[in-house]
Amino acid sequence: MKFFVDTADIDEIRDLAATGMVDGVTTNPSLVAKSGRNFFEVLEEICSVVPGPVSAEVTATDAEAMLAEAQKLTAIAKNITIKVPLTWDGLKACRTLADQGTMVNVTLCFSPNQALLAAKAGAAFISPFVGRLDDITHDGMGLIEEIKTIYDHYDALTTQILVASVRHPLHVRDAALLGADVATVPPNVLRALANHPLTDKGLAAFLKDWEKTGQSI
Ligand code: E4P
Repeated sequence: MKFFVDTADIDEIRDLAATGMVDGVTTNPSLVAKSGRNFFEVLEEICSVVPGPVSAEVTATDAEAMLAEAQKLTAIAKNITIKVPLTWDGLKACRTLADQGTMVNVTLCFSPNQALLAAKAGAAFISPFVGRLDDITHDGMGLIEEIKTIYDHYDALTTQILVASVRHPLHVRDAALLGADVATVPPNVLRALANHPLTDKGLAAFLKDWEKTGQSI
């Protein structure tokens, strides 16, 4: 499973990219606002650090204007992926962009039918928001399972399932168990994947015993 990092914080991206775990990046208007940076500048910087897909979200709501914004965003770097919302205008823009050879990430997906439409519109990625569904006591991971089942039925549907709105390590584990293609993960959650109290305990014991030997490597 690929990991995308879900942030516009360039320092976090640089740090995590050095681990070799970052296959791409997703941003959204809220994450850009949180970074306090200029959208175009931060995207350019992210694309220079991460060669994989970097999602940049349009803010227009009609298809024509989305396409105009997409043109400016794709000019930033080759690996920019255009993110459009799951609306009819977004799907229309998705079809046009996909036909032009631009990768599209259709975002704000909350149902299997929406995911089916995105795949038929030629999306490279569909972003179902598991955390926001869990927040309202709906089964976020159940949605991933349904989308996976639907996509697996049809060879023509090649859209990758990009699990979004990930809140904790269990979301990552469950997405991987279901065979999701990608999880976009906030930096703190990505870091938490390596944590285990028995690893910490075991390492402390090894280091203590090593000290007793008086040796060094
Ligand atoms: C990424 O593409 C999504 O915009 C992001 O994962 C949403 O996460 P949130 O629900 O925590 O805001």
